[in-house]
Amino acid sequence: MKLCVIIPLCALFTLTQQVPSQDKCVCDLTNSAKAFPYDKLSSVEDNASKCNSNITPKKTLELESLMLGLERRLPQLQEDVSVLEREDDGELYGVLSLLVIENELTEIKQLIDKLNMTSQRHQQLTTDTTEQLKELRDKMAELQEYDTMQVVKRQQANQRLKRDLDQCKNEHQPIPHPTQPPQGICPYGKFVNVTGPVVYTPGEYPGSYMYGAWGRDPKPAVGKENWYWLVMLTSSNVYSNYVRLYSSLSSLIVGVSVPGNVLIHSSNPTTNTIQGPNVVLYGDALYYNCYYKDIVCRFNLTTKTITTMQLPEGTRFNSKGNFCHLDECYPYTDLDLATDESGVWVIYTTTQDFGNLVLSKVEEGEQPTFNQTWHTSVYKQAVTNTFMACGVLYATRYISKEVEEIFYSFDTSTGVEKFNIGIFIKKMSPNIYSLNYSPVDQMLHAYCNSFMVSYKVLFE
Ligand SMILES: *[C@@H]1O[C@H](CO)[C@@H](O)[C@H](O)[C@H]1NC(C)=O
Ligand SMILES: *[C@@H]1O[C@H](CO)[C@@H](O)[C@H](O)[C@H]1NC(C)=O
Ligand SMILES: *[C@@H]1O[C@H](CO)[C@@H](O)[C@H](O)[C@H]1NC(C)=O
Ligand SMILES: *[C@@H]1O[C@H](CO)[C@@H](O)[C@H](O)[C@H]1NC(C)=O
Ligand SMILES: *[C@@H]1O[C@H](CO)[C@@H](O)[C@H](O)[C@H]1NC(C)=O
Repeated sequence: MKLCVIIPLCALFTLTQQVPSQDKCVCDLTNSAKAFPYDKLSSVEDNASKCNSNITPKKTLELESLMLGLERRLPQLQEDVSVLEREDDGELYGVLSLLVIENELTEIKQLIDKLNMTSQRHQQLTTDTTEQLKELRDKMAELQEYDTMQVVKRQQANQRLKRDLDQCKNEHQPIPHPTQPPQGICPYGKFVNVTGPVVYTPGEYPGSYMYGAWGRDPKPAVGKENWYWLVMLTSSNVYSNYVRLYSSLSSLIVGVSVPGNVLIHSSNPTTNTIQGPNVVLYGDALYYNCYYKDIVCRFNLTTKTITTMQLPEGTRFNSKGNFCHLDECYPYTDLDLATDESGVWVIYTTTQDFGNLVLSKVEEGEQPTFNQTWHTSVYKQAVTNTFMACGVLYATRYISKEVEEIFYSFDTSTGVEKFNIGIFIKKMSPNIYSLNYSPVDQMLHAYCNSFMVSYKVLFE
């Protein structure tokens, strides 16, 4: 590259030389180095960020869930085949069982095909990414040749030194906690659909407890990131006095509870034990409707202590303000606790709201409080369940034994209500007794007639 520089001082020089025909002089500056290829660098940057967005932990969950689905269906098939073998009468019964088995086989084949497709996609992704990484490394090596001043090399050396220094420091200090993502910021767009179920399991006590709740702690304690929790209403289908913990989704499905139970009180029920199914675990504490009160209890799993939060006067409680559909109301669903990206919420109704849904945000702290409350115009008895996602309240209604509809939403940031959401959930059992959104993996966890089911939430 050539740089032409006009130096005005030269004019002075020519003047002193008294050469009248020349009134300016031109100096050529030749830069022997090649121009830095900025285009190339930004293309490398683009490709690297593309690479990053292609590989996410979600990809492995996809495979895991498919495997789980398969794992659960195979024993069922085996069972049905053995029933057929035992009871085949060569007539109508045999034909019917054969049909059932045929359907199951079709379903299993679909599952295997999907598994095959997914694993092939992953293999392709791995191959592509490896190639891309190699390419990027080569390109970076090329680019480094432009670093004639050795800036990058020295920076790298500095970084290495700094890292060693930090390591040295850290050896004398406790390991810092991982930084929490900023609270209250919702990273997702519009809620558009629900797919699945991706998990469907009777768990450790098949068919024993009709009512309960389960899920993942969105703000887990260190070391408990993959844990799942389960609360079953073990007394009269209404009360419970413990949380059961599982170290992973697989342990929950196969029914191996390694950490076991955390007991709230040895009696069930008693003051400040659990009443009703809609409980949540958040920040290593269980939030629920305290026994026989219009109060939210927070049970700290570490200290095993309970803090209480009084709801406003007029709050319906003790099975007086339940979720319902035309055929039945779900008993003791007065208070629905929910979690989302920003924390814990409670959904309930009051006399002064004429049975419409009311929503309050739990403000965390040593003595948690209800900071803000929103009043909606949807009648609680026309709703079967609610959950929160990204600061938006969603309500469901019963369509049939097979289908539930997310029909309503209330955006707490704008106050806008919508009655025409029209997202359908495919049910495995007729009634969803508790439903909660998990911001960790964008799943909806449902407890339905003793089954644990989860769905994937799709955002735009
Ligand atoms: C970036 O990726 C594109 C398409 O995959 C490729 O054509 C291009 O050569 C890559 N650029 C660099 C600098 O690796
Ligand atoms: C997986 O898919 C490939 C191509 O789509 C096919 O050749 C192969 O037979 C499949 N494997 C199974 C087990 O279905
Ligand atoms: C939502 O998902 C279901 C099942 O995966 C699908 O049938 C339906 O068309 C989807 N709806 C929309 C609006 O994308
Ligand atoms: C539980 O108690 C521990 C120890 O006092 C405290 O650090 C933690 O913040 C408490 N958790 C909640 C949710 O209050
Ligand atoms: C109550 O909520 C508002 C709005 O989200 C917030 O600005 C304020 O800090 C909260 N107050 C307390 C005591 O947390």
